[in-house]
Amino acid sequence: TTHSIAVFVGSLRKASINRRLALAVQRLAPEDMRFVFVPIDGLPLYNQDFDDGYPAACQALKKQVEQADALLFVTPEYNRSTPGVLKNAIDIASRPWGTNSFAGKPAAVIGASIGSTGSALAQQHLRNVLAYLDVPVLAQPEVFVQFRSDDLIDGEGRIASEDTRKFLQQFVDRYAEWVARHVR
Ligand code: FNR
Repeated sequence: TTHSIAVFVGSLRKASINRRLALAVQRLAPEDMRFVFVPIDGLPLYNQDFDDGYPAACQALKKQVEQADALLFVTPEYNRSTPGVLKNAIDIASRPWGTNSFAGKPAAVIGASIGSTGSALAQQHLRNVLAYLDVPVLAQPEVFVQFRSDDLIDGEGRIASEDTRKFLQQFVDRYAEWVARHVR
């Protein structure tokens, strides 16, 4: 059976190292995993007034999440937390009250940064948010990728380091098991 994965990349920039990490994971994933990159750049800033009549772009986001079997969050670290654009998308899909689109979907959180912490603190914040949203997040392996050199992963998701490739393959294998275990 095919599993569809809704991928959230928490960076909007073209050369994003997190987008490249997401593409690398997609390349390593088994045939039966279909990655759907969820656009978050066209969303309005969440406003609780939306709950009286949800904007079309927000409804479309919720539908994309609901149609997915599983979630993959690939987050940069901005000032020791997740970027606002990613939190905004999560807030939108979690509402209106009582219609949290994420509930019960298996997920993983990974990320990359320039610094030696590899986005670890952003990921930890995100795990806290997802716990509240009733999302079972894969605990291990944690993936904190440090881009010491910008060509670690290229724009097509090709990985220059054999160690990094092996490590990410281990992650993907565990993630695939995690998804299969939660999806009927
Ligand atoms: C950063 N960066 C950063 N890195 C880090 O390791 N810890 C941090 O707290 C921060 N804080 C931070 C704040 C802001 C506003 C910016 C713009 C950047 C650096 C960050 O890791 C780097 O810009 C990455 O390239 C961002 O990921 P993308 O956009 O390449 O995916």
